[in-house]
Amino acid sequence: MKVVYFSPNDTTRRVTQAAAAAMEPGGEQVDLLKAPLTADLSVGEEEMLVVGMPVYAGRIPGLCLSSLAHLKGNGSPAAAIVVYGNRDYDDALLELTDLLEAQGFRVVGAGAFIARHSIFPTVAADRPDEKDMEAIAAFGRECQARRGLFSEGHPGEILVKGSRPYKKPGASSFRPSGDRTCTACGACAAVCPTKSIDPATPTKTREDTCLACAACIRVCPTGSRAFRGVAYQTARKAFEIKCAAYRLPEAFYRA
Ligand SMILES: Cc1cc2nc3c(=O)[nH]c(=O)nc-3n(C[C@H](O)[C@H](O)[C@H](O)COP(=O)(O)O)c2cc1C
Ligand code: SF4
Ligand code: SF4
Repeated sequence: MKVVYFSPNDTTRRVTQAAAAAMEPGGEQVDLLKAPLTADLSVGEEEMLVVGMPVYAGRIPGLCLSSLAHLKGNGSPAAAIVVYGNRDYDDALLELTDLLEAQGFRVVGAGAFIARHSIFPTVAADRPDEKDMEAIAAFGRECQARRGLFSEGHPGEILVKGSRPYKKPGASSFRPSGDRTCTACGACAAVCPTKSIDPATPTKTREDTCLACAACIRVCPTGSRAFRGVAYQTARKAFEIKCAAYRLPEAFYRA
């Protein structure tokens, strides 16, 4: 089994690994935040691929597309997972499923799960919760049960929520910054997937390249890096109201 994920704020990793663990123990872990794929990764005919992506503006993160293009299936079973911050996943799950099917995989299950919003962490703050974890494990077990059922002769079909053409990709207008508590430890610059932090000036952020992924906030040992400002606080409050309803996990299976 291969388990591939991009998880700047760690929730996508947790969800993806929990689903994979319900399929089989172990597996090769591919963390795209630490090391984007630069060469093809071939998955065996009988081997399961589990891919987890966070939802960014209703799509999978554009930054991951070059890595995902290196995943090569050989009629291999796959599970597609997207993790979103309780607003919506729009076309992200369909996009990931289409991408894997086009690259030689048979997606046996596709799941959308909810987690703390990485830009507005007061939204879905306690997700994934116990019920989510049960749904994630059930998804993993169902994928495992279906993995051997589909072959050239019986290809099956999976219908996933979303529309084509996909939603136009968008970007957040918020950027994190550091404050006086910064000790210049360098952790934020080291983790940033877009090199938007100069280690010489770690309280600043390159506006044009930053994804707002919040990886720098997660690793900052002093709590120096954060989203700040009146516009951000206002947007956060509005988002808390807009996304207050408890959304449920969703899963789609090949039949
Ligand atoms: C740039 C950006 C855009 C996002 N867009 C959405 C969105 O469209 N819908 C949503 O519900 N959550 C959205 N989120 C929240 C993330 O999908 C969610 O917090 C996810 O759990 C992050 O995964 P991670 O913890 O692995 O980084 C967005 C987050 C970021 C950083
Ligand atoms: S500076 Fe931007 S892109 Fe870099 S880790 Fe922080 S939020 Fe992510
Ligand atoms: S991780 Fe935090 S303390 Fe370390 S350099 Fe970055 S802002 Fe400063």
